[in-house]
Amino acid sequence: MQYYDNVRAAADWLQSRIGALPDVAVVLGSGLGDFANRLADAVTIPYGEIPHWPASAVVGHAGRLVAGTLAGRRVAALSGRAHYYEGHTPPTITFATRVLGLLRVPALILTNAAGGVNKGFKPGTLMVIDDHLNLMGCNPLIGANDDRFGVRFPDMSEVYSARLRGKADDASRATGVAVAHGVYAALAGPSYETPAEIRYLRTVGADAVGMSTVPEAIVARHMGMEVLGVSCITNPAAGVLPRPLKHDEVMEVANRVRGEFSALLEATIERL
Ligand code: HPA
Repeated sequence: MQYYDNVRAAADWLQSRIGALPDVAVVLGSGLGDFANRLADAVTIPYGEIPHWPASAVVGHAGRLVAGTLAGRRVAALSGRAHYYEGHTPPTITFATRVLGLLRVPALILTNAAGGVNKGFKPGTLMVIDDHLNLMGCNPLIGANDDRFGVRFPDMSEVYSARLRGKADDASRATGVAVAHGVYAALAGPSYETPAEIRYLRTVGADAVGMSTVPEAIVARHMGMEVLGVSCITNPAAGVLPRPLKHDEVMEVANRVRGEFSALLEATIERL
């Protein structure tokens, strides 16, 4: 299959560039790319150089992979991801995850900016994702299953590893950076939700809403990686406050908390 061959080619190319394989990979959401600057002995690779790797054009995403060390671990930080709303297919938005899987990266930390559906969440709240609702209208595993990646019907009863969520809680206690827990609902976007959609999401058990992460988490589980998800709640979701949502506000809040966010990530990685 051509797709597998492309993923393999990208993985082999990356391995030749970064040497020792990462112990953990971190996908950095909108406005959170700053974390990559914490890595020591860093090798920076623009996405455009990696064979077959999709480009992301969203403002606030740098489009680079930084491989380095942090807290005694080898870390690959991915700033920028391809989104479904950009018109990419589900296999394209999960290409990077597939590459990390073929590289046998054991743990994947997925981060994002998200709207707060739970009324208890203030902008700047960091939420450890306990589970998700896939409301994107697509699943990245649709189509012929390639057994080299994983099984046809993968279990999704613990997408977000209880062990890793516990490490995030330990990191929270150690750093004093508070975390909440909750369910992340993924919608396709790119329009923000209506107030009625937010009431619906609250009714069905969502605490946060966003436009990424879920396809990557599904593919990572398909390949047997351990997954941790962390959302930065950048805004009350639509209809909570009597004013419109703006991408600028999302970026502003993500930028404001990126220091705490990075400290939490670092302390989590230290404990893996
Ligand atoms: N909705 C969807 N995605 C988002 C939001 C939101 O309110 N904020 C940041 N990403």
